[in-house]
Amino acid sequence: MPGVLPDGEPVPADGSLPATATREVGARGFGVYVHVPFCASRCGYCDFNTYTAAELGGGVTREGYADTVLAELRLAARVLGDGPPRRVDTVFVGGGTPTLLPADDLARILDAVDRTWGLAADAEVTTEANPESVTPESLKALRAVGYTRISLGMQSASPGVLAILDRRHSAGRATAAAAEAREAGFDHVNLDLIYGTPGERAEDFARSLDEVIAAGADHVSAYALIVEDGTRLAARMRRGELPYPDDDVAADRYLAAEEALGAAGFSWYEVSNWARTPAARCRHNLLYWAGGDWWGL
Ligand SMILES: C[S@@+](CC[C@H](N)C(=O)[O-])C[C@H]1O[C@@H](n2cnc3c(N)ncnc32)[C@H](O)[C@@H]1O
Ligand code: SF4
Repeated sequence: MPGVLPDGEPVPADGSLPATATREVGARGFGVYVHVPFCASRCGYCDFNTYTAAELGGGVTREGYADTVLAELRLAARVLGDGPPRRVDTVFVGGGTPTLLPADDLARILDAVDRTWGLAADAEVTTEANPESVTPESLKALRAVGYTRISLGMQSASPGVLAILDRRHSAGRATAAAAEAREAGFDHVNLDLIYGTPGERAEDFARSLDEVIAAGADHVSAYALIVEDGTRLAARMRRGELPYPDDDVAADRYLAAEEALGAAGFSWYEVSNWARTPAARCRHNLLYWAGGDWWGL
């Protein structure tokens, strides 16, 4: 299905920004978001801009993607060229599944961001990852080239819930990957959970929280399941094969998350996010919330 352009003026072909925008860039922090739109398979609930090998049309390949990002980075450097000097406070490589790219490609992208604008000495550099797409070796390689934070999609500790969500990994793989990331020397490790999946019982979510806490992650994102139009999950619900999520159940789960995570020493700091210490809060997300500047590649 072709994408629909958003309302408003189209982006100029040369990517230029109004002088009022470039003058101020970086005054309230500067982040870089890199989107990697590839997944091994599509989870039934997800409507993110991502493509499996079978869905990829002509024009883009995983192999050529890092070079495409580098070309767009050169455009960004041209557009911001006349603005004030700036350094990059945060980099967030998201997806999709960034770790489907070889660690070398993720290294080249980070190196190019550094050479273009300069990474701050204490820059936070995150990549998202699927638990089954990382190994102890790939994690060590990412750490060695400057990634400081990893965000792993766990979703649930219950095999039944993972099956309804079409997840490919086993219940224990996400927490094992979190331990491997710690071992590899990542400063910060996040685990994503989804709650309110049809068939999830209160005790299933309680177990997910227990396992996340025991895994040694210092950050948890817990999201209420959103039934997105056009997904397999939405079709199954429309056909009556699965019930729609219940808002009251979701509210109970949210309170359960706050109670369990709070008791384990995590503090809630943003709608769906908890961190063990102030330093473990995701600075890139905070930059968005605080209205800082960022360039998306
Ligand atoms: C880009 S994915 C994370 C990395 C990786 N692709 C993975 O899934 O393991 C971002 C996160 O968004 C959340 N998410 C995606 N679609 C969602 C939905 N429909 N409802 C709630 N959470 C959703 C999941 O928790 C997922 O881990
Ligand atoms: S949740 Fe993650 S792995 Fe699943 S389709 Fe979405 S981006 Fe890909």
